[in-house]
Amino acid sequence: MSYNILYLLLFVLFSCNCSSMSEAQKEGEPPTGRSESLPVECGAAGNQQSCLITGLYPLLAELSSSLQSLKASMDKEQFRRKGTVRAEHNIAFAATLGNKGDVGPFSTNFPLVYEKVFLNAGSCYNTGTGIFTAPVKGVYFFSLSGHNKTSKPMALRLFKNGEPMIIVYNHPLTDAGIRYESLSNSITLMLEKGDQVYVHLLANTWVFDNTDNLTLFTGHLVFPL
Ligand SMILES: *[C@@H]1O[C@H](CO)[C@@H](O)[C@H](O)[C@H]1NC(C)=O
Ligand SMILES: *[C@@H]1O[C@H](CO)[C@@H](O)[C@H](O)[C@H]1NC(C)=O
Repeated sequence: MSYNILYLLLFVLFSCNCSSMSEAQKEGEPPTGRSESLPVECGAAGNQQSCLITGLYPLLAELSSSLQSLKASMDKEQFRRKGTVRAEHNIAFAATLGNKGDVGPFSTNFPLVYEKVFLNAGSCYNTGTGIFTAPVKGVYFFSLSGHNKTSKPMALRLFKNGEPMIIVYNHPLTDAGIRYESLSNSITLMLEKGDQVYVHLLANTWVFDNTDNLTLFTGHLVFPL
């Protein structure tokens, strides 16, 4: 863009200082319709000031169209960036405990490893440890669920780097209302790259899963920051 403007500026200055050529042109050839609006004509009149002003019109027109096309290309670039999903942002996982039956109770908090993986896009969920590690800074969504009998306490807590975030918990029933139940909870978290999210079965509680996919841990990147 800047080169075009430079050329135009040189053209205007050159035309203004070149009245002799314009004179020659006047004598030699008949002026075309197009040349009437060009600065050459006004240069021939010998008035350099009006020449410069008239010469500014094409310059301004060029500048304005250059700015318009610059804006259009910037809009396009912005659109392209917004529309681009980069491979490192394809982050989503979902896994259940698998066909394990009862898990627990243990005397201390027990890290749950959800072994039956439905999806692990980006491989950020570790199927050996049950830990999800954020690959990029961003906003993430997580959900967990747990299933068991209401006669037994069930407590699952989601942690971020050792800090408790959310829990699902049932107070055990001892009366005739005993039944099976499922609990769930979810949260949206801002994570730094490398932050770890995982679930513990709290001490002295039970959780259950079989082939019915009852107890699940799932999460995905909502948007990077
Ligand atoms: C947990 O629930 C399952 C059925 O969904 C049941 O078979 C199991 O006995 C329950 N575990 C405990 C400890 O109550
Ligand atoms: C559990 O997940 C498997 C896929 O891994 C699916 O085939 C099955 O139908 C699911 N079971 C239930 C009860 O939804």
